[in-house]
Amino acid sequence: MCGIVGYIGHRDAYPVVLKGLQRLEYRGYDSAGIAIYDGEELKLCKTQGKVADLKEKLENTITTHGNVAIGHTRWATHGVPNDVNSHPHYSNSGDLVIIHNGIIENYDALKKELQTRGYTFKSDTDTEVLVNLIEDVILKENVKLGKAVQIALNQTIGAYAIAVYNKSKPDEIVVARLGSPLAIGVGEDEFFIASDASPFIEFTKNAIYLEDGEMAVIRRNKEVKVRKIQDDTLVDPYLQELQLNLEQIEKGGYDHFMLKEIHEQPTAIKDTYRGRMLPDEGLIRMAGVDDNLERIANAKRILIVACGTSWHAGLVAEYIFEELARIPVEVEYASEFRYRNPIISEKDVIIAISQSGETADTMAAIKLAKEKGAFAFGVCNVVGSSISRETNAGAYTHAGPEIGVASTKAFTTQITVLTLMALKLAKHNGTISNTDFRTYLQELELVPGKIEKALEADEHIKYISDIYKDARNCLYLGRGFNFPVALEGALKLKEISYIHAEGYPAAEMKHGPIALIDEEMPVVVIATKKGHYEKVVSNIQEIKSRKGKIIAIVTEGDTEVRELADHVIEVPETIEPLTPLVTTIPLQLLSYHIAVMLGKNVDQPRNLAKSVTVE
Ligand code: G6P
Repeated sequence: MCGIVGYIGHRDAYPVVLKGLQRLEYRGYDSAGIAIYDGEELKLCKTQGKVADLKEKLENTITTHGNVAIGHTRWATHGVPNDVNSHPHYSNSGDLVIIHNGIIENYDALKKELQTRGYTFKSDTDTEVLVNLIEDVILKENVKLGKAVQIALNQTIGAYAIAVYNKSKPDEIVVARLGSPLAIGVGEDEFFIASDASPFIEFTKNAIYLEDGEMAVIRRNKEVKVRKIQDDTLVDPYLQELQLNLEQIEKGGYDHFMLKEIHEQPTAIKDTYRGRMLPDEGLIRMAGVDDNLERIANAKRILIVACGTSWHAGLVAEYIFEELARIPVEVEYASEFRYRNPIISEKDVIIAISQSGETADTMAAIKLAKEKGAFAFGVCNVVGSSISRETNAGAYTHAGPEIGVASTKAFTTQITVLTLMALKLAKHNGTISNTDFRTYLQELELVPGKIEKALEADEHIKYISDIYKDARNCLYLGRGFNFPVALEGALKLKEISYIHAEGYPAAEMKHGPIALIDEEMPVVVIATKKGHYEKVVSNIQEIKSRKGKIIAIVTEGDTEVRELADHVIEVPETIEPLTPLVTTIPLQLLSYHIAVMLGKNVDQPRNLAKSVTVE
């Protein structure tokens, strides 16, 4: 994980890099650092803590003037988060400085070898080994920085996005990537470097996204020379025009990004289906599916791989694909899938779901499935991300940037895209009637309005949050399409409030979790009409007779559950497979309010990161 930012040009580099780091904090936030070259000297400041802590320390210790700077926000892998392990790291001579996102797996062997030649190390990081390896190459082979970076990287095993700077050649920065993202913003006589485009969006709309295995030498006022790290081939870089704008990455009046993103869901879902869903013509257009329709529709099996919230969206999709398209679906954690010996045939289609499009385990799962001949389809949010490029075809969710670490709009838009895909395949395979197909499209069009309605329960949810904010455990139950929603609700609560929560299929409660129920235990039950309603009502009775506290998510106008539950939160009715899109909303708000009331850092919960580029 980690975020990297750099600048070389004519402006003061410090504010650019500092702001960029703040925007990249979603990638990691346990420590941060910046190195600035002021024309004569390289000055460096780093600290454990957030970018705000760095700002305070830096402005009190060094002058911030200079046109070149590189900075880093860290999510620790090698070495605990402390000042010394923070990036940037100097080489032994103090000439080179590096920032790194990723892991150098063979760092220990390289370190030992360097130590035998007199190199010393201050930190426990793999990164400090890499910068000294580069220095060693410069000294031994008498080559320039670019060449030395290339030679050194060819000796490493692992993943990286790096930027390296040599104060004795102050007009260039060398960058490289393998497995971690790296974008170069190209302005007028100035260049920006970042893990994604958000740090430079107000300065330029032109960017080069390095491909895996590429490096670039960026020269002040000159050019960007891109090469392949392995064989030195020159690459003609593709200059991409960015669609992102500044508003999308700011809080827009909300207290937290998470709250903003929860409220953005009606619009985000519309953006997801806009142009794809043509209810009047009874059609769904999705280029990635249309161009490969036979291949996907004739799949013997669909394998869904993902992590975290995206995995929960995959579970909802499993129910939807099997219900509508009648294609067998298996959903797997990418991290498990990649390390077993899965049976994959050329008739399989693998769908990788990933908000960031950068999750290392999901990426590795795709590569494995592709090697075995499967067709890979990506459902990503970040345009141009690694997974979107690695897959044979795909569909973007178009949710706009999601910055809060706890995923919200990514989840509902992933479900939307996957529903469209399932409907399309169902139509092609003749497993859905024309009438039902149209009903789905009409209902999907109503979902954004229904989410707006669900959001109106905010004050009531705040009231409930206040009652349960001190709970130590919480159980979430759901059945059918809403079982994955229960998992997702529990994940949201634990990741931002640190309250232990578990999601369970309601009927499984009697096989274990029921033992936990007493008057201290809040149980959130998704009990919307249809979908095994009567059975869920029985489960609620079972909780009640054990004195558990029941918070039920019910369909508007419900009376039966209201009589049993301690609290009900109403959501508008929709057809059953689409209910996750509305039942998720109160669960997101519940966890949000509880976390805020407990004084937790909602957007940057401890130990987590948004983009998990390490396995
Ligand atoms: C991290 C994030 C989660 C996310 C998961 C998968 O754990 O904190 O919010 O669901 O990664 O990320 P992806 O970008 O692949 O959807």
